[in-house]
Amino acid sequence: MFKQARLKLTAWYLLIIMVISFSFSALIYQISSLEIIHFADSQRNRMERQFYSSENPPSPPPKVLVDDLISESQKNLLNNLIIINSVILIISGSLAYFLAGRTLSPIQKMHEDQKRFISDASHELKTPITALKTMLEVSLRDPNLDLTESKKVLTDSISATNQLKTLTDSLLELNHLNNNGSSFKLEPISIKNLMTESVKKIKPQAEVKKITIKFNPTKGKINVDGQKIEELFLILLDNAIKYSPDSSQIIFNSFKTKKNVVFKIIDKGIGISDKDLPHIFDRFYRADNARTKNSASGYGLGLSIAQKIVEQHHGSIGVQSIIKQGTTFKIILPL
Ligand SMILES: Nc1ncnc2c1ncn2[C@@H]1O[C@H](COP(=O)(O)OP(=O)(O)O)[C@@H](O)[C@H]1O
Ligand SMILES: [Mg+2]
Repeated sequence: MFKQARLKLTAWYLLIIMVISFSFSALIYQISSLEIIHFADSQRNRMERQFYSSENPPSPPPKVLVDDLISESQKNLLNNLIIINSVILIISGSLAYFLAGRTLSPIQKMHEDQKRFISDASHELKTPITALKTMLEVSLRDPNLDLTESKKVLTDSISATNQLKTLTDSLLELNHLNNNGSSFKLEPISIKNLMTESVKKIKPQAEVKKITIKFNPTKGKINVDGQKIEELFLILLDNAIKYSPDSSQIIFNSFKTKKNVVFKIIDKGIGISDKDLPHIFDRFYRADNARTKNSASGYGLGLSIAQKIVEQHHGSIGVQSIIKQGTTFKIILPL
């Protein structure tokens, strides 16, 4: 599809260049022909004047000879213009093909990203939907299913549906961030408020594992989309809790540099291996030790969303981790 589009675009570029080139050539031919005729006429007039005024005059060139010279010059001019236009055609043909490739390549990349996104998403959705369907069908076929068992099946179905909803919400969010993240509403917000609100929201989850969050916000305001930054903190705090042992401690602090605010989320959890570290921001990527930890459910979309939020704020996100010792996420946002 893109190869065809590239060829079409090349043809259009070439058509425009050649129309311009031919028009100029025609103009040059017209002007130069007139000049040649004028020049020949004036030369003949001069010779005729010499012929009548001198005693021993040279014979004037016959008219036929002059006309031959004119048409010879015009032919040469035409030949030269044809050669120049052929060279322009060859050079601009390759240039147009190159430019068409350059023009289409971002569109092609976006198209391929979308295709991969749709195929990944449908693949991830298929597994839980099939599991849910099977569970419901098996229960329906069971003739001895009593009320208690039916209620259990319904409860399990609701929990599976909730997980599916989380997945689709994350997918929609990621798609939205990919397509129109620039719709962020930036406004000055207190850094302390942002951090306090996020900690308040995640606290119940931390309490289940008796994890304490020690947080230390810096003073001042930052120009951000408050809702998105809270979401970013929640993703990272949620990971820190999920991948840390019970009764451990998480540190969430921030400090200012000349132009930026730096946030750090430090845990003493399971850590990330060197093999996994380069991939954790990829869509749907989950390290093996995260998958096998049965309490840690997830779809591997959190960090992709986090990265997009940071990018849209022109900041950066980095990670340092040692397996079985802990992980530190560092976010830098411009003030
Ligand atoms: N604080 C952390 N400690 C250990 N591993 C982490 C931490 N945060 C992220 N990871 C790893 O990065 C992967 C991707 O994280 P994320 O995108 O949030 O997906 P999810 O939490 O759904 O698994 C996780 O599956 C896990 O392997
Ligand atoms: Mg996560």
